[in-house]
Amino acid sequence: CGIVAIVGNTPVAPLIVDALKRLEYRGYDSAGVATIHGGRLDRRRAEGKLVNLERRIADQPLTGTIGIGHTRWATHGVPNETNAHPHFSNDDVAIVHNGIIENFAELRAELLADGYTFASQTDTEVVAHLISRELARGSAAVDAAFAALKRLEGAFALAIIFRGDEDLIVGARNGPPLAIGHGDGEMFLGSDAIALAPFTNAVTYLEDGDWAVVRRGGLEIFDMNGHRVERAQQQSIGTKFLVDKGNHRHFMEKEIHEQPEVISHTLSHYIDFAERTTKSDAIPFDFANLDRIAISACGTAYLAGLVSKYWFERLARLPVDIDIASEFRYREMPLSKRSAALFVSQSGETADTLASLRYCRQQGVAIGAIVNVQESTIARESDGIFPTLAGPEIGVASTKAFTCQLSVLASLALRAAKERGTISAEEEKAHVRALTEAPRYTSQVLKLEQQVEKVARELTHYKHVLYLGRDTNYPLAMEGALKLKEISYIHAEGYAAGELKHGPIALIDENMPVIVIAPHDHIFDKTVSNMQEVAARGGKIILITDRKGAERAGIDTLETIVMPDVPQFVAPIVYALPIQMLAYYTAVFMGTDVDQPRNLAKSVTVE
Ligand code: G6P
Repeated sequence: CGIVAIVGNTPVAPLIVDALKRLEYRGYDSAGVATIHGGRLDRRRAEGKLVNLERRIADQPLTGTIGIGHTRWATHGVPNETNAHPHFSNDDVAIVHNGIIENFAELRAELLADGYTFASQTDTEVVAHLISRELARGSAAVDAAFAALKRLEGAFALAIIFRGDEDLIVGARNGPPLAIGHGDGEMFLGSDAIALAPFTNAVTYLEDGDWAVVRRGGLEIFDMNGHRVERAQQQSIGTKFLVDKGNHRHFMEKEIHEQPEVISHTLSHYIDFAERTTKSDAIPFDFANLDRIAISACGTAYLAGLVSKYWFERLARLPVDIDIASEFRYREMPLSKRSAALFVSQSGETADTLASLRYCRQQGVAIGAIVNVQESTIARESDGIFPTLAGPEIGVASTKAFTCQLSVLASLALRAAKERGTISAEEEKAHVRALTEAPRYTSQVLKLEQQVEKVARELTHYKHVLYLGRDTNYPLAMEGALKLKEISYIHAEGYAAGELKHGPIALIDENMPVIVIAPHDHIFDKTVSNMQEVAARGGKIILITDRKGAERAGIDTLETIVMPDVPQFVAPIVYALPIQMLAYYTAVFMGTDVDQPRNLAKSVTVE
């Protein structure tokens, strides 16, 4: 979910809606704004995307100069208007919330027993009632909010306004981020600095356990003991401009096409192209003295980590433990002093990834973060930041962030190999050259559009698709399946090709096409055997390979996408593109909402 709050001098509702647009990546199943005007709380809420809310406000404007707004990704309660934020209690308090109140059932029972009734199924409404009960007991607004905050367990960011005080917003953070923007006689709160960028670049980030009293004249921050704390004001680099689609139909299409440029930009941060080596100053990690690396991440970022396991182990002889962050955070993995932990996250805010980072922090190991948002919480809590310079990624299905994550991880693996003396100078140069050429290969792949479109049209006829690959193409197979199911809603699975015979082969028939990612590499023949197994059972094969692979496969395929010849080391970066394009065109032909697929959010700040 995304939060915005403003205490200003002109009607704030339109400003809040504009800021919410920049937060739509955090969820878009419903939205709402509340303001106070003439001593009365008033709100507009709407199910679905922000445009619905915008229309509602245009029909029935809100005039208050203090207000809060929210764009939701549902956790408790279906995404309808009743469950949309802001939530009210007794028309005294309005609240917006990001996160989960874990003890809500217990609090709800307590409030029900006290005679409170609940209009929604959300966990948020208990917070509104708790505050309202404190007010009814005679507490002042700020004290009532603090008393309620002390009762809450879980992860949350909150913004609260009170009918009786048109110069007060209370903000609180315990988990999901909250930034406070300083204006001239006005103040702002937002889930990130980008949301606040049109108003101000002067921001203060709340830390976990902080809560803030925000008035037109300034800001006071307290901890959970009620003691004043000081948090530095910073200059954010959030850009004022809302990125647009340019000439593209969707952000996803635009972002796919940006890849040659952003991969090159990212690599230039890590690679000295002239000297054909990795830059030591960009990579402050003592790889020579490490025994292991633990990598954790979620979704597409996890799959980038899984590709890198092959690189780190093969090139740098450095063992990698790779975990899905929601598993890692609870599995109590032992970490020695000679381990380092790496976290991969586009947003830098994913709750499970952040929790994994904090576990590693307790274990005392060095922590590096590969993030696209350099001001994010994960970035701020790491010892070393390895930026992906992909620029803002708006499409919910990650594309350019993924290939930039791969570019960073490939550079790190090369650096590790150099520092550990596991590759020769010539090998290093050859690998650096391969990386240097990766952007050019990706632009060649973009030209395969028509062929990919043809395959995509074919895929629309099926309900299930299987993706297969070996080695680094195994995580790519999973990424291909993930992309496809996310945006086209066709059920897809990604499997290690060698594992086919241990189960999924039972599914093979003419109704489930099998997409095989198999460049002509050291295990190409093994993958060909797996394709034979599919063909023998009447399965239809779509092969993504290179020229040599196409010549040598010797198998009837439904379609073969012939990729440029690329060095094996950079193949994952290049082969990511056809699978992204395939998912994209399939979704376009299916008529789904490509940039904002149902049920998903770009940044998931809850467990
Ligand atoms: C969400 C997004 C995915 C993304 C994952 C991890 O599920 O929909 O596209 O891969 O979160 O996000 P992060 O920001 O940590 O990379």
